[in-house]
Amino acid sequence: MAVSHAGSMLTLANAEPWDYYERLRDEGGILWDDELQSWLVLSYEPIKEIALGEHELWDLPYVSRDDGEPPLGLTAQAWQDFVGYGSPRFLMTDRGDDHVRQHRWWMRAFSPRVLTQWQETLFRPIVDEEIDRFARAGRAELVADYARRVSPRVISAMLGLPHDDADLMARVEQLISARFAAKHMISLPNPDPAVIERAFRATDELKEILEPLVDERRAPDGDGLISMLWRDAPLVFGESWEPIDILAAAGVAWEGGTDTTASSTANGLQLLLSRPGLYDLIRGGDEELVRRFVEETIRLYGPVLFRPRVAREDVEVGGVQVKQGQQVLVLIVAANRDPDHYPDGSAVDLERRAPRDHLSFYFGPRSCPGQALARVELEAIFTQITARLPDLRLDPDAEPPRYTGTMTRRWAPLNVLFTPAP
Ligand code: HEM
Repeated sequence: MAVSHAGSMLTLANAEPWDYYERLRDEGGILWDDELQSWLVLSYEPIKEIALGEHELWDLPYVSRDDGEPPLGLTAQAWQDFVGYGSPRFLMTDRGDDHVRQHRWWMRAFSPRVLTQWQETLFRPIVDEEIDRFARAGRAELVADYARRVSPRVISAMLGLPHDDADLMARVEQLISARFAAKHMISLPNPDPAVIERAFRATDELKEILEPLVDERRAPDGDGLISMLWRDAPLVFGESWEPIDILAAAGVAWEGGTDTTASSTANGLQLLLSRPGLYDLIRGGDEELVRRFVEETIRLYGPVLFRPRVAREDVEVGGVQVKQGQQVLVLIVAANRDPDHYPDGSAVDLERRAPRDHLSFYFGPRSCPGQALARVELEAIFTQITARLPDLRLDPDAEPPRYTGTMTRRWAPLNVLFTPAP
């Protein structure tokens, strides 16, 4: 069945799309969208099925395809230079066994032991220092003044890079956003050439910034993920690895872990400030409750709205026939409220039987390898903000938050008031 409405989900970029998704879902869990030239997948079970068929039945549109044709009319080399910083062994474009090997390493790298250590020595101090910056003012805009500052620092710290260099952090965040914008546009019709051009320039500048920093971390006993990569390089990338693979891996961590976690921070804070009683509940400091709140934040307002996949062969999914080469857009946030899976999908329920079974970190072979890191970071943020700013509230006289963005989505601005710290 084709979508029979005038607009597409893109027209909802500045609104809450849940009613719209429910109307679409009533027409079927999978629908063809003429405007986007893609199938929209809104239901939980078909998305899991697609995720499990990764590599065999489905690929990201921008992984090296069988026909060898890169997107945007680029040569293979230009594409590799852009998307993978020039590395031919890049996690997000690798497939099959090469991908499985890298992905497994990443999942192991964020072990509970390593994360517990980083939480105490790196993440909590950053989370607190960034609260110190505005705590005496009595007011703040928490997206710019807090959320967008913490996550680049956390990623940078875990990589072993100079996270207290504020100018560097701000610049890298801008450059990563430029790449992010272009990569998401690739799955949509008529990508804007100016956005693509900006992303190319950003990639060159990022390489210049990262090269010396990555090189400095060669020492065999260094801390942080870049040093771990130098040590484990043949395991991660195979015997024919090169230093550019390490730079690209640092880039992918920054790309995967900054905008996503900053948006989740904003979305969690908006939930805390808008659902009666929730702030005081989380302020109690009960660790299990905070953990459950993090999952509900990510389920309800997961920052990644949708992901594209292309069928490698004709395949039936959720009762429709998808032809080889056709694209599906899996609407993660719609599936996370699928009434067939979640009886009361729109509620914040801190007692869900399986709090982690949402799709916000995707699922299967390409599930997010940074999810354990994102969880500990968000736990630290919500614990510390609620404990240190006990009467935090939205400023009734300031611009209210709106749910904005196309690919990743966040509540902004978050203008707040609170009793200034002494
Ligand atoms: C709340 C925060 C986060 C969310 C919601 C999130 C979500 C996702 C999703 C949906 C994917 C699958 C993309 C796809 O294959 O189409 C993904 C992949 C990925 N994420 Fe995250 N992510 C988060 C945080 C992080 C962090 C902190 C890192 C840091 C290392 C990270 C690194 C990655 C990487 C490297 C991939 C690519 C995996 C692959 O292609 O095998 N993410 N993430």
